[in-house]
Amino acid sequence: MTTSAHADGRRAVKAVIPAAGLATRFLPATKAVPKELLPVVDRPVLQYIVEEAAAAGIKDVLLVTGRGKTSMVDHFDRRPDVEARLEEKGDYERLAAVRRTSELADIYTCRQGEPLGLGHAVGTAASHIGDAPFAVLLGDEFVEEDKPLLPAMLEVQRRTGGIVLAFMEVKPEETARYGIASVQPSDLGEDIVEVTGLVEKPAPEEAPSNLAVLGRYILPPSIFEAIEKTRPGSGGEIQLTDAMAQLLADGTPVHGIIYRGHRYDTGMPLGYLQAVVELAAKRDDLGPEFMAWLADFVAGGARG
Ligand code: G1P
Repeated sequence: MTTSAHADGRRAVKAVIPAAGLATRFLPATKAVPKELLPVVDRPVLQYIVEEAAAAGIKDVLLVTGRGKTSMVDHFDRRPDVEARLEEKGDYERLAAVRRTSELADIYTCRQGEPLGLGHAVGTAASHIGDAPFAVLLGDEFVEEDKPLLPAMLEVQRRTGGIVLAFMEVKPEETARYGIASVQPSDLGEDIVEVTGLVEKPAPEEAPSNLAVLGRYILPPSIFEAIEKTRPGSGGEIQLTDAMAQLLADGTPVHGIIYRGHRYDTGMPLGYLQAVVELAAKRDDLGPEFMAWLADFVAGGARG
């Protein structure tokens, strides 16, 4: 393998979740409630994301937060009064569910005082991360629990020492919503490509492919220096994609895994609704009754 010069065999053990955004696409729901705490069935979005990290062995999670978003941290704290009440009632199932939230990971926070972009948000994590590779999980998207992405990404990063991304194929007209990559085949395995170029939110006619960057990244610590050097780009924001493009240009290996599972995007009402319906349908306890109702509802012309 040509990339061994960057690899030192370490595996990322910390994750950063940028979650300081104002969530304007979800107002007024997100005026007082962080979008990361909107429930998908009976768990907030953020819990799915922390569970995804924990399932991949990442138990140190740094939330990059902002004003009015402290309740995100409360969700992962102990809640002795609620636990005592559930114990008294003998509701052990709910008790276990409540306790589980505080046992998933060690949650740390730092603040992004101004919304200067995703690159800037990741940059605020520098002192917590130190000199080690780490994962970034965007706070409003997650993948299917039984088709995890992070374990394979962590392993590719351990072997290459570089940047590891995940891609999904998007429609040509959607490229302006994502980071888009140009790629070539790699010798690392099926569905793993080598990235040759990265551009943030290109217009369809300028997009080098239809491979969009999904909100999961494994990054080497050298990204922090690159972020410091990154000037505002697309949307006037300091973009993580631009900082990664800089490392790529300087010779850091960048690979991507093409994800074949489903990605839930809860940052907008439509994607959020789809996530709620799909995950409710998959539940053993709710699914059968919910699906029967849904089929009925749709057959009835949605009672409109
Ligand atoms: C961010 C990234 C973009 C990536 C996307 C994935 O964009 O900047 O490269 O493709 O997340 O969801 P945002 O959704 O914050 O505009």
